[in-house]
Amino acid sequence: MRKAIIAGNWKMNKTMAETKETISALAPLVKDADCDVVLCVPFTDIQAAKKAARGTNIKIGAQNVHWAEKGAFTGEISADMLKELKVDYVIIGHSERRQYFGETDETVNKRTQAALNARIKPIVCVGETESEREDGLTEKVLERQIVEGLKGFKSKDFDKIVIAYEPVWAIGTGKTATAQDANETIGYIRKVLAKKFHKTIGEKARIQYGGSMNVKNCKELMAQEHIDGGLIGGASLKADDFAYIVNYNK
Ligand code: 13P
Repeated sequence: MRKAIIAGNWKMNKTMAETKETISALAPLVKDADCDVVLCVPFTDIQAAKKAARGTNIKIGAQNVHWAEKGAFTGEISADMLKELKVDYVIIGHSERRQYFGETDETVNKRTQAALNARIKPIVCVGETESEREDGLTEKVLERQIVEGLKGFKSKDFDKIVIAYEPVWAIGTGKTATAQDANETIGYIRKVLAKKFHKTIGEKARIQYGGSMNVKNCKELMAQEHIDGGLIGGASLKADDFAYIVNYNK
């Protein structure tokens, strides 16, 4: 019922030339994918990525968006600017932004609204840190991030909003949540959505897993009931590896 979505998050990697090279190599390998295929690239690579992905099933996303229409926000990018570049998706509230750049649930909420207003699909990231997990706070943290971050959004907005559950301790560490753990936690997120928003949202929201997802663990993760896709960092930088993950069901 829910269409899977496999998205690469390139983070601060790849020049324009490398972008073109990677997408040209990737396109023929993912052309028969059954899932949505997305690459979220640095702002400076968006135009090159759009050009390289033209005529393919690869959609291009950004990694952040500001909530204001315009103004004195040095270094920020507005939703209209992204819309002009015909970006389809934007990552919001990634743990690296929460950790290093002061992102909060409130700013996540505002950025998500700005993306939706511009008809760009937000990929909203949530996830607990290692110490929160050790202190048994995982569910509490996730509930707060979902309820506050997505406050005010209606059922129809969840046709566009994608949620990415990324346990912070699993990002770039080679440690993955077990497929069962990830499934259980995403199942919990569905319960929060059903209880705090509307019961249909728990069923219809697309929720990805992210955190050291790779060619070895993707099939098991993708076989889980509640997991609708992946948000992939390191393994999305190589066309072969990313294509393997995209073709998880072949
Ligand atoms: P890794 O796949 O490198 O662990 O990164 C996950 C991530 O942060 C995707 O947004």
